[in-house]
Amino acid sequence: MRGGLLEILVLGKPISWLDGVDVRTGEIVQRDHPQRGTSIAGRAIKIPHSIGSTVGAYTFFKLVRNKAAPRKIILEKPDSITMAAVLAGIPVEMEHEGPVEELKVEGVPENFVRYLEKEASFSSARGFVRINSVHLSGISYATIGEEGLDFLKKVSKDARFRVLATTNPAGMDLKRWRKMGIPEDFAEKQLRIVRLLLKMGAVPTFTCTPYLAGNLPTFGEHICWGESSAVSFVNSVIGARTNREGSIKGIVAATVGYTPLYGKHLDEERIPNLKVDMAGLKGFTEFSLAGYIIGREYPSAVPFVEGVHPSYEELKAFGAAAAASGGIELFHIEGFTPEAHIFSVSGNEKLKVEGSDIIEAREELSSYNGDPDLIAVGCPHLSMKELMYLAELSNGKRTKIKFWAFTSRSVLAQCQGTVKMLEKAGIEVYADTCMVVSPLEKIGFRRVVTNSAKAAKYLRDLRGLDVMILPLEEIVKRFFIS
Ligand code: F3S
Repeated sequence: MRGGLLEILVLGKPISWLDGVDVRTGEIVQRDHPQRGTSIAGRAIKIPHSIGSTVGAYTFFKLVRNKAAPRKIILEKPDSITMAAVLAGIPVEMEHEGPVEELKVEGVPENFVRYLEKEASFSSARGFVRINSVHLSGISYATIGEEGLDFLKKVSKDARFRVLATTNPAGMDLKRWRKMGIPEDFAEKQLRIVRLLLKMGAVPTFTCTPYLAGNLPTFGEHICWGESSAVSFVNSVIGARTNREGSIKGIVAATVGYTPLYGKHLDEERIPNLKVDMAGLKGFTEFSLAGYIIGREYPSAVPFVEGVHPSYEELKAFGAAAAASGGIELFHIEGFTPEAHIFSVSGNEKLKVEGSDIIEAREELSSYNGDPDLIAVGCPHLSMKELMYLAELSNGKRTKIKFWAFTSRSVLAQCQGTVKMLEKAGIEVYADTCMVVSPLEKIGFRRVVTNSAKAAKYLRDLRGLDVMILPLEEIVKRFFIS
């Protein structure tokens, strides 16, 4: 305190709540943050907005439990991930708040309605809009921890979902977790989380590609999704409308059935403001690294990408990484995504991403050379086409290193023949989980190879593992024998 006023720590860059703050101490640990090493514990802080994972919403409960929480948060831009701090007891203010509009919904918990009204006021929303689906993030015990489990126990007494609510990956394959080597105590907590979510009415998809598992919105439909990679895909490739919603907001919105009308629900927020030339780039890993670069350099942009003709798989890789290194919720690809011809680019901001940038980003994210103890692919979850491609690449060969491939239970059920081919090559295919939200370090893995920039970033920053990024073709070339 100075002169009777609370001194405000102004953070110069957005923060990734999931992996950018040490929840034990409140110290900023985000690698590229100018205030890395500064503690937010007990201080009033002002931030532009959050970036990265939507699961960061649970970080506030951990900070409060560890007495490392900020005293107050002032937001420059509305952000439902940071707003979850309110439910953990941390006051959140907005630099410029609008009037509070009343939301009239009966038979739902009162505090959920108040929460949405506060978000509407923060965002100067144009009222509320009915939503047709929710995708819930924050399902894994490895990311939400004891505090998340406690929160779910509390809210599941009253909350019942009114709209389709699919679920993101859990911390383990829910059937074959013993084969993965998941510790019993972890599995017990994870199964409790799953039971609580199902009790509220969640649909057990356990995937970050819900659009391949039955939750497929139409163009222009208003939805409320968490999981930043799915948000970016559904906004950009399908043209549905959602903000990047925090895990806790997902539970609130699924229960109430409405969300405030602002941000990516509105035309003006969907206008591209950064031209990106990606001519010459191709393949899952190059798209993934290009997304990582764009998110890192322009964390809140709406990119308009030129010079590429991507597959759906490349698009999900691109969007996932751009939403992991930044807060990108929407992108347009010239001649491909449905709104690319509707909006023209505003401003003169330009970026070119070329081969040398890809090599530099790959080196930045890779921390070792030599043999890994785990190869992990499927971030985002593998599609049928990707499973088949992996089977084709590995046909007649066998992996020298433990190899885990992650997909959804719905894709897995439809690809049993392909899975048999993969098993012949020594590849274990798991559903319901992924390399980032399962406790790899507890199982004993230290050095991982992956083809995904999003996975590499979180394996390094969240799980504390050594990582190397290689394209799938290179992985098979280096680590398989004929
Ligand atoms: Fe999906 Fe896990 Fe990657 S949730 S996007 S596979 S980090």
